[in-house]
Amino acid sequence: MSERIHTPAKKRAVYPGSFDPITSGHVDIIQRGLKIFDEILVAVVENPKKKSLFTTKERMNMIQDFFVDHKDIEVKAFDGLLVEFAKNNNANIVIRGLRAISDFEYEFQMALMNRKLDSEIETLFMMPNLSYSFLSSKLVKEIFMLGGGLKDLVPGQVEKKLREKFKKSTQA
Ligand code: PNS
Repeated sequence: MSERIHTPAKKRAVYPGSFDPITSGHVDIIQRGLKIFDEILVAVVENPKKKSLFTTKERMNMIQDFFVDHKDIEVKAFDGLLVEFAKNNNANIVIRGLRAISDFEYEFQMALMNRKLDSEIETLFMMPNLSYSFLSSKLVKEIFMLGGGLKDLVPGQVEKKLREKFKKSTQA
């Protein structure tokens, strides 16, 4: 009897966000996600309503630069509905990081709305390392602008990009 060779399909998840810019907390979630999934598609939202410091391309480049050796990480921009993007990219799991209770209400609302929009899409919440549970892109930008150090809070390349960005904007 011939043995049937079973090649399981790759488990793929979408990790969406603004990533303005990517922080060590985001990196931590991606690395944890890779323990569960074969591939993670990092989806950078293009939201003209939400003013971002970095352009979509810059936000994507910072993520790509950090994960340059990872064949299992893909970075794409998206606009429109997340559930549509996930479906069009063969993923039915959305990963979101949950830092504190304060995140819960917004995340709960979004997960259930996404489920209402497409019942095939599941949201998986992951807790970052405790040392990142207070960390956000918004605070990173504020600390940087006020002259504070970002050691351990963002990848080194991101700190460099922040420096370049603010040098440019003060020269303009
Ligand atoms: O990093 P953020 O800003 O918390 O990410 C929010 C994001 C991008 C996940 C969310 O705004 C989103 O999914 N936007 C896409 C539009 C959409 O699908 N809206 C309906 C969600 S209920």
